[in-house]
Amino acid sequence: MSLLITNIGELTTNNEETDYARLHDAAVVLEGETIAWVGSAAQAPAADERVDADGCAVLPGWVDSHTHMVFAGDRTAEFEARLAGKPYAAGGINVTVAATRAATDEQLRATLARLVAEARAGGTTTIETKTGYGLTVADETRSARLAAEVVEEVTFLGAHVVPQGTDREAFLTSVTGPMLDAVAPFISAVDVFCESGAFDAAETERVLTAARSRGFATHVHGNQLGHGPGVRLAVEYGSLSVDHLGFLSEEDVAALAATWRPDHPTRGTVATILPACDLSTRMPLAPARRLADAGVVIALASNCNPGTSYTSSMDFCVATAVLQMGLSVEEAVRAATLGGAIALDRDRSRPGRPRVGALVVGARADVQLLDAPSATHLAYRPGMPLTRSVWRAGQRLR
Ligand code: NIG
Repeated sequence: MSLLITNIGELTTNNEETDYARLHDAAVVLEGETIAWVGSAAQAPAADERVDADGCAVLPGWVDSHTHMVFAGDRTAEFEARLAGKPYAAGGINVTVAATRAATDEQLRATLARLVAEARAGGTTTIETKTGYGLTVADETRSARLAAEVVEEVTFLGAHVVPQGTDREAFLTSVTGPMLDAVAPFISAVDVFCESGAFDAAETERVLTAARSRGFATHVHGNQLGHGPGVRLAVEYGSLSVDHLGFLSEEDVAALAATWRPDHPTRGTVATILPACDLSTRMPLAPARRLADAGVVIALASNCNPGTSYTSSMDFCVATAVLQMGLSVEEAVRAATLGGAIALDRDRSRPGRPRVGALVVGARADVQLLDAPSATHLAYRPGMPLTRSVWRAGQRLR
């Protein structure tokens, strides 16, 4: 079955071969699960079905490369305490751990399904989600298994915090051994919260080494609550991304930028910025402009979780990145699509893992149609419901 979306006022393709140029008066053809044709509306081939975009903007579906959607419980009181001036500390994670352990599979599934549905309705077609609120072998395995039922990129975050009442060394031994082995069938990457109050440099290295020795890609939560070794270690270990980044030294920015130079021997490390989290925790906004100017590839993600960022709205993240973090609309949209794909190693097609984040021939047919003539409206009309239609793998979701 083929579908022609035509009369597109502005088409963002993220095609690096055309210097990411936006196309006007454009059309795109979806064939089954894949993008089959992209070009000028006047030259579009015939298809089984046709959608008139009415001069509106079409973009790749959002790629949300950092969320924590497997949880139970509520942290409104903690949020209210922050509004009253209490700083965020990683201790609140244990509140969600207790609620998650006590929840049934059906309760966790229901929350996850609701959050995924909200995200998809907002144009998100690729979601990464992390474990990290179970923190025993059984609870982490359950979180990974439930996540893998509905989300295509599952990341093991056993190294989130040391759970209350648990011996630190015994916990780390488990995270880097039996726990990691138990979740392995369900995950594609491993993450570690490298922060004071969570895991120090030596502990972070243990987690990254264990992941690497089993062939898993890695991510690092780093430099969220203060300056620290997160960026340095992510770069040293060739992590796909380092996420948060509210506190960056000149050395951190230079180290990240160096990974994107053509002579760098391995794939670069993406700087994943999480504006909704920065705002909700009242932390400094990550220095997105500085990173972009240094040549660092940026991903923009929601960090949807009950503690620091209870939203999956990528539209909100894009608007904030433009209005408050100094990115251009093009940069913010690219970070929320192609940037996320690069952070998940999904910017090229491999068996069972189709390319996402770009509207180019051969990529998965993940498309959003806005109720606006250009992507600029995401920042120009912040907070407005601009998602008109969404297709994921060629299937219309709304
Ligand atoms: O990415 N930083 C660590 N983990 C989550 C928040 C976890 C929580 O407070 O529940 C984050 O912000």
